[in-house]
Amino acid sequence: QTVYLKDYAPVPVTVTHVDLRFRLAPMATVVSARLTCKRQGSGNMVLNGEMLTLKGISIDGETLNADAYATTDTTLTLYDVPDAFTLETEVEIAPQANKALSGLYMSGGMYCTQCEAEGFRRITYMLDRPDVMATYDVTITSDLPVLLSNGDESSRGKWHDPWPKPTYLFALVAGDLVATSDSFTTSEGRDVVLNVWVRPGDETRTEYAMDSLKRSMEWDERVYGRAYDLSVFNIVAVDDFNMGAMENKGLNIFNSKYVLASSDTATDADFANIERIVAHEYFHNWTGNRITCRDWFQLCLKEGLTVFRDQQFSQDERGFATQRIGDVLSLRARQFREDAGPLAHPVRPESFVEINNFYTATIYEKGAELIGMLHRIVGSEGYSKGCALYFERHDGDAATIEDWLACFEEATGRDLTQFKLWYTQAGTPRLIVTEHFNDGTYRIDLEQIVPDTPGQTGKKPMPIPIAFGLLDRDGMEIRKTEVHVLTDRTDSLSFDLSERPVLSILRGFSAPVILELERSDADRLTLLAHDTDPFNRWEAGRVLAKDRLMHAITEDANFDDAWLDAVAKLATDAFADPAFRALALALPSQDDMAQSLHTAGIVPDPDRIYAVRRAAQLAIATRLQAELPQLRIAMATPGPYDPKAQDAGKRALAGKLLGFQTFLDGGAAARAAYDAADNMTDRMAAFVCLLDAGDPDIAARFEEEWRHDRLVMDKWFMAQIANTPPRDAVHLADDLTRHDDFDASNPNRFRALIGGLTAGNPAGFHNPNGKGYEFLADWLLYLDKSNPQMTARLSTAFDGWKRYDADRQDLMRAQLERMAATPDLSRDLSEMLDRMLKS
Ligand code: ARG
Ligand code: ZN
Repeated sequence: QTVYLKDYAPVPVTVTHVDLRFRLAPMATVVSARLTCKRQGSGNMVLNGEMLTLKGISIDGETLNADAYATTDTTLTLYDVPDAFTLETEVEIAPQANKALSGLYMSGGMYCTQCEAEGFRRITYMLDRPDVMATYDVTITSDLPVLLSNGDESSRGKWHDPWPKPTYLFALVAGDLVATSDSFTTSEGRDVVLNVWVRPGDETRTEYAMDSLKRSMEWDERVYGRAYDLSVFNIVAVDDFNMGAMENKGLNIFNSKYVLASSDTATDADFANIERIVAHEYFHNWTGNRITCRDWFQLCLKEGLTVFRDQQFSQDERGFATQRIGDVLSLRARQFREDAGPLAHPVRPESFVEINNFYTATIYEKGAELIGMLHRIVGSEGYSKGCALYFERHDGDAATIEDWLACFEEATGRDLTQFKLWYTQAGTPRLIVTEHFNDGTYRIDLEQIVPDTPGQTGKKPMPIPIAFGLLDRDGMEIRKTEVHVLTDRTDSLSFDLSERPVLSILRGFSAPVILELERSDADRLTLLAHDTDPFNRWEAGRVLAKDRLMHAITEDANFDDAWLDAVAKLATDAFADPAFRALALALPSQDDMAQSLHTAGIVPDPDRIYAVRRAAQLAIATRLQAELPQLRIAMATPGPYDPKAQDAGKRALAGKLLGFQTFLDGGAAARAAYDAADNMTDRMAAFVCLLDAGDPDIAARFEEEWRHDRLVMDKWFMAQIANTPPRDAVHLADDLTRHDDFDASNPNRFRALIGGLTAGNPAGFHNPNGKGYEFLADWLLYLDKSNPQMTARLSTAFDGWKRYDADRQDLMRAQLERMAATPDLSRDLSEMLDRMLKS
C-alpha cells in the first residue's frame, strides 16, 4: 500500500494519443475511450480504473476474449498485447453520485472534473500517472449549452489538445454557464481568447479575475519569457471544489471563492487571493504542464516553483515588503507547524500511502522557499540562466528534481549536491547566532541544527544563505546587505569595527529557518526604527511583541511603556506605509504563541494565551486611545472602491485600529462603521469587532442582509465561531451545523465551520472538557464516508496534540484512536491518523 520513490519504473506499454467520447447523464454517463498504445518495455499493460462499470473492450477492433484481460476494483490488466495497437473501452460512471469531488462530478447542475492527482481513473481506464503523456481528442454529447475541454475547439463539444499531457491535466466542463470574454495577443503574435465562465448571475463578479489573468500573462512573458500556447484560455468557477484551483491545460477550474469578487461581497484579502491563484494556475502552463513531473514524489518540482513564481508576481503587483511578510507569516503558521510535528516530511518525500495527503505547506511553501534560496545562492543572473536551460531542455518532459538542479549546475558551474539536502531532509533548521565584541573586533558565531523528524535522524548540515547587514548604534547602515552561505555546522564572521554594531540578520527572511539570537531590546528598537530591510524592521517588532507575550504568559501580564511607545510610534507614523503598519500592529496569533512556547519547552495553555493576547490588545488600545479617532479618519479611502494594494493597505490599518477602538468603546465605533460600510472589507472588519464586543443582534442582521450569497455566508459561519468567547465556541459551532444553510457536502461551507473552530478559535477548540476534539472527530468520521480528501486535510487540526498538557493529550489521543478504530476508513484519513498516532 505504501509507494516508494526508489521503486520508480517506466510503464512497459505507454499511451501516446487519447480519444474520448462522453455521453453525459447524471447517473449514467458513458465514456468511450480509444487509446493509441505503444510498447516500450516488457510486461503486461496494467491500467488504472476505479468506480467504473466496464461495458466493452477491444483491441484493434476485435472484442477481447475473457482470458485476454482481468479487472480488479482498481485495475485492468491486458495480457500479451502487441507492440502497437489501439485499445477501445466503454465504461459507465455516475457523476451525480460522486461526492468525493475527484474525477467527473456534478456541482450545482454542472459537470466538472478534478483529476489531480489520481482522479482520471474514476473517468475511464487509463495509465493514470504523470509520466504518460498523450495528445487528446474529446467529444462531449449533452444538451447543456456550454461544453468545454482542453485545447482548442473545432466544433461544438469537440476539442483537440495538441500538447501532450498527463491524465491529471485533463478537464471537462458542461453546464449552463456564461462567459466574460476578453483577448490577449502574445509576444509571439498569437491571438488568445480569454473566458471566465460562471453561473448566470455571477457574471458581474468576474472582472478582477480577468484583469489578474491578463497581468499574469504579460508578467510571465516579461519576467520568464514564457508565452501562452493555445488560441483559447478558459477559467471556470465551480461552487463545490476541494482545493483552491486546478491548472488543467487551457481549462483552469477554480473554486468560485477564488474567481468571484465584487467590492460588495469580497474582501481585500479575497481580491489578493484571486490575483495570486489566477497567476499561480496560469504560471503552471509552463511550470507543470509543458514541463510536468515524472512521478508524484516530484510534486514540488511544479508546486514549489510555481508558488515561488506567484509570490514574485504578487511582490511586483503589491509591493515586496508586505507580500514577503505575509508569505513568511503563512509559512511559519502552516509549514513550520507541520515540520515540527508528526506530519513532518521532506519537500521531496520518499514514500506515501495516499498522494493527496502530500499537497502540503511543506511541498508548496517550503518548496517555494527552496527556489528562493537557490535564487539567492546563484544570483539573479544565474537564476535566469538556469531557468532558461530548464525550459529549453525539458520542454515536453516529465522531469525530476535532479533534472531541475542539473540545469542550475550546468548554467552556473556550481555544485548543488549539498543544496539537494534541502529536498530530502525534513525539519526546520535552527540557526543559532551569538555576537561577540572585543577590542575592535566584532564576531558573529553561527551554528545550525537540523532537528530529528519522524523517520529521519542524524541529519547533515545544509547550505543556509544568510543575508545580513550592519547598522551603527544610531541606526545608520554601515554595511549593506551581503549574503553569507553557511555550509558547515558552525562558522564565524569577523569585522574590524571601533564600536559594537547592530546586526540585521536573515534579511528578507533569506532562509526558512528558526533564528535564535539573544539580544537587547535596545538593538531591536533600533532595527524597528531604522533598518533598511523592511522585513527585518517588521521582524524586530514581531520579536519584541512575542517576548512581551511570552513574559506575560509565563509570569505576569504587565506591558512596559518602552514597548507600548514603540508600537504607538509605528501606529502613528504617517510616513510609513499603512499596510506595513497594519502588519506591525498585528500580534502573533494564538497558534504562533503555542508553537513558540512549545519550542521553548513550555507547555502552552490555550486559555492563558487567549487572555494574554487580549490584555496586550487592551494595553495597546489604551495607549493609543487619544489618537485612534484621528488615525482612523486619516485612513479613509474616499471615492469608488479600488482593490489595489494602496487602498487595501489603508483599509487594513483602519480595520486594525477599529479593533483597538472596540476594546475601549464596547462597539460604538464599530456599529457606526458597519452602517457606513460600502464594501465587504470594511463591513467584515466592523462585523468581527461587533461579534467580539458581544453585540446580540449583529449576526442576525448580517445573515438577513447576505443570506442569498453563498460566499458571503461562508464568512458569516466562520467569523461567528472564530469571534465568540472560547467557552461558547463548540456549542455555537454545533448549533450552526443545524442551520438551514449548513451543507457539509460543500467544502467551502464545511471548512468555514470546522476551520472557524479549529483555526479561528484555538482556545475554544482546546476547551479542557474535550468537547472540541469530540466534535471534530464526529464530523471527520461523517465526512470521510463521502469526501476523504477534505477529511484528511481537516484532520491536521490534531497534528499539534503532543504540544499540550497530559489531560489534553489524553483527550486528543482518545479521539484519534476512536477514529482509527472505526471500520472502513478511507486510505486518506487512515494514513493521517496513523502518522499522527505513531509519533
Ligand atoms: N495543482 C493544484 C494547484 O496547486 C492543486 C491540486 C490539488 N489536488 C489535490 N488532489 N490535492 O493549483
Ligand atoms: Zn499549483
